[in-house]
Amino acid sequence: MTSPAYNPVTPRIVEELKAIVGERFVLFGDAEKLEPYSHDEVPDRAYAHMPEAVVRPDSTEQVAAIMKLANRERIPVTPRGAGSGLSGGAVPLHGGIVLLVDRMNRILDIDPENMMVVVEPGVVTSEINPPLRQHGLFYAGYPMSLETCYIGGNVAENAGGGKAVKYGVTARYVVGLEVVTPTGEVARLGGKLVKDVTGYSLIQLMVGSEGTLGVFTKITLKLVPLPKASVDLLVLFATAEAAIAAVPRVMTGAGIIPTAIEFMDRTSVHHACKYLNETIPYEKSGAMLLITVDGEDEAGVERAYEAVGEQCLSAGALEVYVADNKTTSERIWRVRKNIAEAFGAGSQHQANEDLVVPPAAIPQLVAGMEALAAKYGVPIPAYGHAGDGNLHTRIAKPDAMALAPWKELLPRILQELYALTAGLGGKISGEHGIGHKRKKYMPLFVDEASMEMMRSIKKALDPNHILNPGKVFDL
Ligand code: LAC
Ligand code: ZN
Repeated sequence: MTSPAYNPVTPRIVEELKAIVGERFVLFGDAEKLEPYSHDEVPDRAYAHMPEAVVRPDSTEQVAAIMKLANRERIPVTPRGAGSGLSGGAVPLHGGIVLLVDRMNRILDIDPENMMVVVEPGVVTSEINPPLRQHGLFYAGYPMSLETCYIGGNVAENAGGGKAVKYGVTARYVVGLEVVTPTGEVARLGGKLVKDVTGYSLIQLMVGSEGTLGVFTKITLKLVPLPKASVDLLVLFATAEAAIAAVPRVMTGAGIIPTAIEFMDRTSVHHACKYLNETIPYEKSGAMLLITVDGEDEAGVERAYEAVGEQCLSAGALEVYVADNKTTSERIWRVRKNIAEAFGAGSQHQANEDLVVPPAAIPQLVAGMEALAAKYGVPIPAYGHAGDGNLHTRIAKPDAMALAPWKELLPRILQELYALTAGLGGKISGEHGIGHKRKKYMPLFVDEASMEMMRSIKKALDPNHILNPGKVFDL
């Protein structure tokens, strides 16, 4: 298939869009107001692209009407949530329309009997849980950006985050989806069902499809009982190797599944603390683990965290701090959650990566990253969801280096980093997605038969190549 030619958004089309969503909810012709929709949280602005219009629908019908119009006129549409993504998923690579779901931000139905909640895509993830609390329920999704990201984006990227060790990723909780297809039809997938094999598992196809296969307009999420007790351990180690070597032991040696096992090396903690003007006891440690244990009762949780603490000490931990009150826990997690933002506040000339390997291979990944850093003389810090085998890094241009040699060096480092990851049986993204940022590396990690299945699905569902073109792979 040749590259499709798209048509521009003309004043006539803007009038049609205004007729669909209302005059106030179409942005057009004002570069300054459109600019924030040209990028997500990927620091490197080389991945940005301006939209021609931003449209803010308020209902399924409006979303469907926009998609119909876009197909008729051959205009690309890029769905967008909060724009907190890290792979360029919400970037309108071919211009056209950015379809912003911020007005679709209602919690539609709290259903304690079925232990489910129905939400619109523009609900901020951290706003789902407070109204569920009185029912003793909670939604277990916990991406690090939960205070700003939208649930629609979490579903589009199959977000993971800090509690996936115990609770799994977003896909585990999506049981129903209302989807506007790329051609503007409305499909209602699944329902308030715990089991459903009535046809292909289209929900699982939609989750993680990065806004290329449909626009989600209603999301039904399965809930779990709110844990009654929770404790965080902050465990200090002399070196990154020592900390990371403890992870597989904590995972399997204590006979329990912790809620979270987060890894932060010294550089990552230092950046976040500086950014927040915070101090936590890190100066003497080379790396730390933040481990959460939750459960039904305090005694059980105490037994569990003692077992975990012992595993850490026998793996060489320098110190185990127990944060058993809300304030201390929140302080530590705040540091953890702000690492990406702290790095992001620096130069735009930095790569943001999201490697995932089989959990037991995580020590080899960290060792390999350190070897690469030494070889190229460029820091490759590591932080992330060690219990899931999922680590992030930021590889930033050293201040002293000019841009031209950096642009030549960075791809070489990345190529080696990806080869290391692939060699360990890993993949290029655990939770941030491919977007257009990583698509050229897909063949390193995905075989041709799988790529062809993906291309066939995209072509079948989006014959005019209207929805978020240029993402995940090229046609
Ligand atoms: C984190 C985000 C970047 O783990 O995924 O901080
Ligand atoms: Zn993460």
